[in-house]
Amino acid sequence: ETKKLLVLPGDGIGPEVMREVAKVVQWLQAARGLKLDIAEELVGGASLAKHGVPIRDEVIALAKEADAVLFGSVGDPAWAHVGFDRRPEVAILRLRSELELFANLRPAKVFDALIDASTLKPDVVRGLDIMIVRETVGGIYFGEPRGIETLPDGSRRGVNTEVYTTGEIERVARVAFDLARVRRNRVTSIEKCNVMESGLLWKEVVTDLRQRVYPDVELTHMLADNCAMQLVRNPLQFDVLVTGNLFGDLLSDLAAMLTGSLGMLPSATLGAEQADGKRHALYEPIHGSAPDIAGKGIANPLAQILSFAMLLRYSFDREADAVLIETAVSNVLASGLRTADIMSEGMARVGTSVMGDAVVKELGKL
Ligand code: NAI
Ligand code: MG
Repeated sequence: ETKKLLVLPGDGIGPEVMREVAKVVQWLQAARGLKLDIAEELVGGASLAKHGVPIRDEVIALAKEADAVLFGSVGDPAWAHVGFDRRPEVAILRLRSELELFANLRPAKVFDALIDASTLKPDVVRGLDIMIVRETVGGIYFGEPRGIETLPDGSRRGVNTEVYTTGEIERVARVAFDLARVRRNRVTSIEKCNVMESGLLWKEVVTDLRQRVYPDVELTHMLADNCAMQLVRNPLQFDVLVTGNLFGDLLSDLAAMLTGSLGMLPSATLGAEQADGKRHALYEPIHGSAPDIAGKGIANPLAQILSFAMLLRYSFDREADAVLIETAVSNVLASGLRTADIMSEGMARVGTSVMGDAVVKELGKL
């Protein structure tokens, strides 16, 4: 079956790392019978330069029709001083809201060969493979009332409100439980029910959902502050973590650093199921457009390549191909090849293109 893929390379190193994904795609088409209908469009600063907007309505429409979107990164210092609506970053914000991408999946996986890149002790992170599921369209970043108001005495106060409905909690929790079933069958739900009403409801809804639909999955609850501590102390205890927008923002960045490098981390954002059973989904590396190294040919393409592997797994139902890519990446690292961001003593430093070629060559051997 032919799948529709929309590719949005974006700015800075986005197009550079996306070129390496194209090599992997070509290999899968030739060797594994992958059938794709690929469209590629400009977003971010690249779209601003050509069309005057960070993302065109036509591109949003293409994203809605696609089976999945592979996104690079947007952001360009040349557009840093324009009004907010014309900033490159609006491209990704619009995609997230138009496709209602409510569940952000961030795996934190440590490749054995890269263990010395982690800031933690090898024993603490060896074999680490966790998945953080963060709610992304609700919670305190969007709740009403919000704003800065002037009080009668002339002083001001800033207000944000955490709001979660049962529906919002349940749909993101379902994503977490479904993931756990194909992983190690454990979900840890994170809130602060000791001091927050929204946290109390969160815990209740997740508990109830598990009883009704996922009795086979092990569920534990943890307070967010304790979770931050546990992630550093003993991250191997976790499988899937599910949490709201604010705590997820902090905890996923924290977990990312357990693995050492920004250039290695993929992500997925899943949206609501459509009438036809399809789910909108966008895949992108955690990192941004890295203007400091753009155009130098030294960016690490592995996060973008691993994002494509997640896309194959979750949107195209091609688990075997996803595993092939992940194994190839792991083997290339084990062979000693390193881009500058993950370089360490005794390893061979290579650029973006050589790293991509090495992954394809390794795929050919698997
Ligand atoms: P960044 O992730 O672009 O870069 C942070 C540091 O990590 C830089 O020193 C960069 O050289 C390095 N780095 C990042 N990815 C790398 C890779 N694949 N290989 C090697 N080194 C890598 O974050 P920064 O500098 O805060 O933001 C730059 C621009 O990207 C901004 O305009 C920001 O708004 C945008 N951005 C966009 C995102 C997106 O498109 N979803 C996400 C994060 C930032
Ligand atoms: Mg963040």
